[in-house]
Amino acid sequence: IWAGLCLMGHCPGHSPATGSSTATGTVLAQEPASPEVVEAASREDSQRCVDPLSAMEQEDAIRQELGSLHGIPLFKSFIEGWPQVKAFQARPDDLLISTYPKSGTTWLSEIMDMIYHDGDVEKCRRDAIYNRVPFLEMKVPKVPCATGVEQLENTPSPRLVKTHLPVQLLPTSFWEKECKIIYMARNPKDVVISYYYFHHMAKIHPDPGTKAEFLENFMAGKVAYGSWYDHVRGWWEKKQEKMLYLFYEDMKKDPRREVQKILHFLGKELAEETVERILHHTSFQEMKKNPAANYETMLPTAMDHSISPFLRKGISGDWKNHFTVAQNERFDQHYQEHMAGSDLHFQMEV
Ligand code: PPS
Repeated sequence: IWAGLCLMGHCPGHSPATGSSTATGTVLAQEPASPEVVEAASREDSQRCVDPLSAMEQEDAIRQELGSLHGIPLFKSFIEGWPQVKAFQARPDDLLISTYPKSGTTWLSEIMDMIYHDGDVEKCRRDAIYNRVPFLEMKVPKVPCATGVEQLENTPSPRLVKTHLPVQLLPTSFWEKECKIIYMARNPKDVVISYYYFHHMAKIHPDPGTKAEFLENFMAGKVAYGSWYDHVRGWWEKKQEKMLYLFYEDMKKDPRREVQKILHFLGKELAEETVERILHHTSFQEMKKNPAANYETMLPTAMDHSISPFLRKGISGDWKNHFTVAQNERFDQHYQEHMAGSDLHFQMEV
């Protein structure tokens, strides 16, 4: 979730010319600067108004309790930046990637950036994923200009925009400008496990407590971004022509078919070999070792991959390794109650 606090010079995009990763996945080879890279570097200059390193040293960024934004639990720093987010001016050719946390946002983002760059792997290494696809509502605590909104304002069109906002909080300009939206949903049992491990490694979150406690909080919607049920149902009910609703489980089962769905939605055609390259580059194994996609460029004080990597398992059905029989029964009961009357259905494994 927390993409704002990267270490300058540590992020791929914060060295002017970035290239392919080495086998260790930490060192970036230098390359002659392409126009895109120069553009990214000048974009970076315009973002130099804050030193994220000193921002990171603010203790209040770490393990704070959540605040509430129109009844949705959210990080206090994000709430601080809400007026700018609400007033955000979308552009008609923006494409919004919307998800509940831990539902495949980064995966979909990498796929979209690859599609936008016609499968050019090197271009997609130009910067970290959180800079290539800025996070709309992100705000670094107490620093006025370290925000997703600022980042987006400095991003040339066509922009890819990431959000986890529930549908009722999406800035109205996205609807007014009739932007295309891709929503990706994932089954809640895998989401809660992924979210639990993410709470441990990403320190913006409050302490998750035990797995059992976290499960209760998740079911009650007492986690950042609130109720999973409300989120997936809210976006589902808003589904229209300009929105594509995808499922993580479908993407696992048949990524080629899902990428074709996206291409159709965008009205774009790509050669078979380009699609092949996109599928390879966005596989879990490739993304896991790609420093421009795996979040390892974040400061360890913000995200500690030694506790749990951002690209952790990347499978459907991992919840089976974590839920007790009793927890599963209770969850199923809760799920039935909260999904009653909806034609939205989830595959709990593939
Ligand atoms: S965030 O922080 O909310 O933006 O996280 P998000 O990217 O939505 O979700 C992270 C989970 O997605 C998995 N992931 C992938 N799975 C399969 N294939 C690919 N390529 C891929 N990339 C990311 C990631 O591993 C997290 O899931 P878990 O279950 O924790 O492994």
